[in-house]
Amino acid sequence: MTILVSGGTGYVGQALIQRFTEKKIRYKILSRSSSNYQKGIYHADFSKNSFDESALEDVHTVINLNGANIGEKRWSASRKQTLRDSRIAHTEFLIDKIKKYKPSVNKLISCSAIGYYGDTGETFVSETSKNGSDFMSELCRDWENASLSIGVEKCTIFRIGLVLGTNSSFEKKLRPSKWFRIVPLFGGGQQYISWIHIDDLVKLMYLAINDLPSGIYNAVSKTPIRLNQYFDKAIKSPKMAIPIPPGLVKMILGEMSDVVLNSYRVSPQKIILNNIQHNGIPKLK
Ligand SMILES: NC(=O)c1ccc[n+]([C@@H]2O[C@H](COP(=O)([O-])OP(=O)(O)OC[C@H]3O[C@@H](n4cnc5c(N)ncnc54)[C@H](OP(=O)(O)O)[C@@H]3O)[C@@H](O)[C@H]2O)c1
Repeated sequence: MTILVSGGTGYVGQALIQRFTEKKIRYKILSRSSSNYQKGIYHADFSKNSFDESALEDVHTVINLNGANIGEKRWSASRKQTLRDSRIAHTEFLIDKIKKYKPSVNKLISCSAIGYYGDTGETFVSETSKNGSDFMSELCRDWENASLSIGVEKCTIFRIGLVLGTNSSFEKKLRPSKWFRIVPLFGGGQQYISWIHIDDLVKLMYLAINDLPSGIYNAVSKTPIRLNQYFDKAIKSPKMAIPIPPGLVKMILGEMSDVVLNSYRVSPQKIILNNIQHNGIPKLK
């Protein structure tokens, strides 16, 4: 039996594929690139209504990791549409194809993000806390609903925190901070970040294939930290911290500033109950 990883070309996907290779688990990758069977790549593109149906042959589990990068560009109206479509329209398309070509698929492991909760301030939120009301909160809600349309009993969703690890998009953005030892404290740096080590996220997704009950899980470490504390752990001293006032961050990033200014204090309550251990904060490389 084979696992299909949609978005398996990305950061999380490649780490997962490495785990499958080590464990000798058969996989296929679904990508907007042309099919290349030797490399295990099968083509799908919701925006062109094109799908290589052989992608689903012999598949029992589908992992859905697609999504245009949230922090790559300012959120113009068309960028917001791309962020939504690459997650929601893509997920609806994928489920439509599963129902049509391989209804016996018994598990969909899909993503959401802790942006689901909006700005949590100092309040610890867990899986049962309410949905926020900003752009990311609404996107995450609609993305989850799209995934759940496969059937609640078949679906596991991870509300993922900031993924940390070598070459993560966050690490790449902060590399200049490490080189020049200058730390940007967006909005003052008191906001919480809820993060997860890439190895732990891979471990969780791997467990979700057979061992975690279906449901919605916060994929974050047990210890959210304030942005200024993050830099203390990730970059060796000495360094110079430069507070950037919220007004200036908003002027530069527009609505996307929510992602860096919001406080996300999120608890992995259901994962703690499942006794899953976590790695610490990796140093910036
Ligand atoms: N990394 C984080 O810190 C983080 C935090 C919270 C949630 N997440 C979510 O976790 C998932 C995996 O994260 P990641 O860091 O591995 O993501 P990633 O590397 O940025 O992208 C994953 C895949 O999405 C596909 N993709 C990109 N643009 C697309 C578009 N316009 N339409 C359709 N598909 C598109 C690409 O596959 P192809 O080009 O091969 O089609 C890409 O390999 C994403 O859904 C992300 O939103 C990530």
